[in-house]
Amino acid sequence: MIRSNPKGLRNGSIASHASGLSYEADLSLRRLSPRLQAFWDAHDADEVLRHEFGLRLVDNWEELFALLYQLYGTRYDFFYHLEQILLTAAAAWLDRPEELRDLDRHRINEPDWFVSEKIVGGALYVDLFSENLGKLADSIDYFKELGLTYLHLMPLFAVRPGDNDGGYAISNYRSVDPRLGTIDDLRNLATELRKAGIVLVLDFVFNHTSDDHDWAKHAQSGDPEYQNFYYIFPDRTLPDQYERTLREIFPTVRRGNFTWHDGMQSWVWTTFNSFQWDLNYSNPAVFRAMLEEMFFISSTGIDILRLDAVAFVWKQMGTSCENLPEAHTLIQAFSRLARIATPSLLFKSEAIVHPDDVVKYISPEECQISYNPTLMALLWESLATHETRLLTRSLSHRHKLPKHTAWVNYLRCHDDIGWTFDDADAAALGINAYDHRQFLNQFYTGQFKGSFARGVPFQENLETGDMRIAGTLASLAGLEHAIEEGDEHEKEMSIRRMLLLQGITLSIGGIPLLYLGEEWGMLNDYDFVKDPAKASDTRWVHRPRMQWEFLHELNDTIASGSGSIRKRIFRSQQKLIATRKALPALAGQQMELVATGNVHLLSFIRINESHRLIVIANFTDQPQSVDGNRLRTVGLGRFFKDALTDREFGTSDDIVLEAYETLWLMRV
Ligand code: GLC
Ligand code: GLC
Repeated sequence: MIRSNPKGLRNGSIASHASGLSYEADLSLRRLSPRLQAFWDAHDADEVLRHEFGLRLVDNWEELFALLYQLYGTRYDFFYHLEQILLTAAAAWLDRPEELRDLDRHRINEPDWFVSEKIVGGALYVDLFSENLGKLADSIDYFKELGLTYLHLMPLFAVRPGDNDGGYAISNYRSVDPRLGTIDDLRNLATELRKAGIVLVLDFVFNHTSDDHDWAKHAQSGDPEYQNFYYIFPDRTLPDQYERTLREIFPTVRRGNFTWHDGMQSWVWTTFNSFQWDLNYSNPAVFRAMLEEMFFISSTGIDILRLDAVAFVWKQMGTSCENLPEAHTLIQAFSRLARIATPSLLFKSEAIVHPDDVVKYISPEECQISYNPTLMALLWESLATHETRLLTRSLSHRHKLPKHTAWVNYLRCHDDIGWTFDDADAAALGINAYDHRQFLNQFYTGQFKGSFARGVPFQENLETGDMRIAGTLASLAGLEHAIEEGDEHEKEMSIRRMLLLQGITLSIGGIPLLYLGEEWGMLNDYDFVKDPAKASDTRWVHRPRMQWEFLHELNDTIASGSGSIRKRIFRSQQKLIATRKALPALAGQQMELVATGNVHLLSFIRINESHRLIVIANFTDQPQSVDGNRLRTVGLGRFFKDALTDREFGTSDDIVLEAYETLWLMRV
């Protein structure tokens, strides 16, 4: 008998503390033990492996039990699912390649490995970058030359025919899209990357499957067990009720969140595209089934799973069905199971939502790392306004994270830019958030007078006036416009803007993540409209095929023309990365803002043990100065050297930054 169901249990974040269920947890484990023994015996499991698993199980069981109990404790078949989940974890550990188990043993003792200054990430599409997984291994030298130690491959599993949302409509998590290779190619690549000191990141697309996944096909054929894997409704009654409190994520794809399925004569919940069916996690069979897929994916040699669309995984009538407490409980349950069976595996949260909600996914027990969409959006905001007030205000209370966690700082990714800053942060500075978003959209689509940006609208919602922005780093920073105009000064400014933003993501604390193509100033590619499977999704404008011929220029001696621009961008980014990796002050997350008294500058100090680095960045195309005395008092020194250029500065005078310049100052 369950003694109590304390109120605190409804809140996911409380589960890791005393759950009040220790007796029930302990009794359940004792009851399950013989089943676990039988499993080990049946598989002739090594004593050491049993022992290691057992220790981690005991360490994590009470929390895991509490989490699962919150989600599924009222189900008539809870104990059955609990047993299945436990055996799934045991099987994952037993099947885990020995190399990965060694990594597990190693990283358990090094919980902060990912916050090192040596970690620098890159993301790419396999087909667009190198055609297939086999050929990707040939690019390892390129990654090393650039300085990458973390590689995120966009989804590469089998997908439905036609539009597959850039790989996010998965029809089989256990086979690679045949155009990209095989599971063995993936395993081999993972091994090669590991040898080269590069960690591998893949998506865990667990909010939805494609409409042609086996589970969806079973559902379509009328099997009620699989219909329960999704949210399927015979008529509009419930969808209409849900709809009252839901947002629309892809309003230009389809109005509302449900799609009519002719075959089943039913409505299916589809938050994203109509062919992406949301999974029903209120069904523990779904949890267990996806857990198996998660373990399978990680066993191919994955260090970090990017948890896709985390905000949407739990639904409840009368709510926005985003960021619900149960979503956290669910992710924490996955995370506990990873601690038990695949302990070196980390989770990265993809929550592109309000900053207060983003941060709730981040903890050692949930997602250890997270995209930092607020920083991303506000860096672009500062570039447009030439002022850092909103950025500074946001950083002042939003950058800090719990121990053993980190931000992933990026400027561009495969998705759009949404202006997800907090309205109250804006209001405190007298900025009207709605108007400001309109301005930013105008600015980044190049419609605002004097704008250098060449972005395009994504998912413009004419009813709400909402819009997001697509475009590459270079096109948004002004390079496309400058090349069009043949304006040399503007070319220079756009390059500086790119380096300015990168100088910040590389130094502000956390894991910097490049979207490959950025490193040589890739421009928007408008040809995506020629492909019917891509034409309706403007995010493809910033997902072009890698142009290796441009890179070959890097090694030749062309000294003029656009070739030299790419070369300069590449070399400068390479230098920034190499410099970061040589500065221990840049490890970890600790960051303190420095008040410069100049709204055009962003300045902060990074402190790690005895190492200090002051970063100052100028968001305008005019020189800006800082009082040297400020530097002396924060930096605790009289003379400083810029780690990027070796230029020295005394503090008796003002320090002057050139247009869009960034300084990384160390005491000398
Ligand atoms: C995430 C992905 C995005 C995709 C969506 C649905 O937001 O980043 O590209 O469209 O999930 O999977
Ligand atoms: C969701 C995702 C976000 C993405 C969008 C699809 O909001 O969380 O990453 O921007 O959908 O583009």
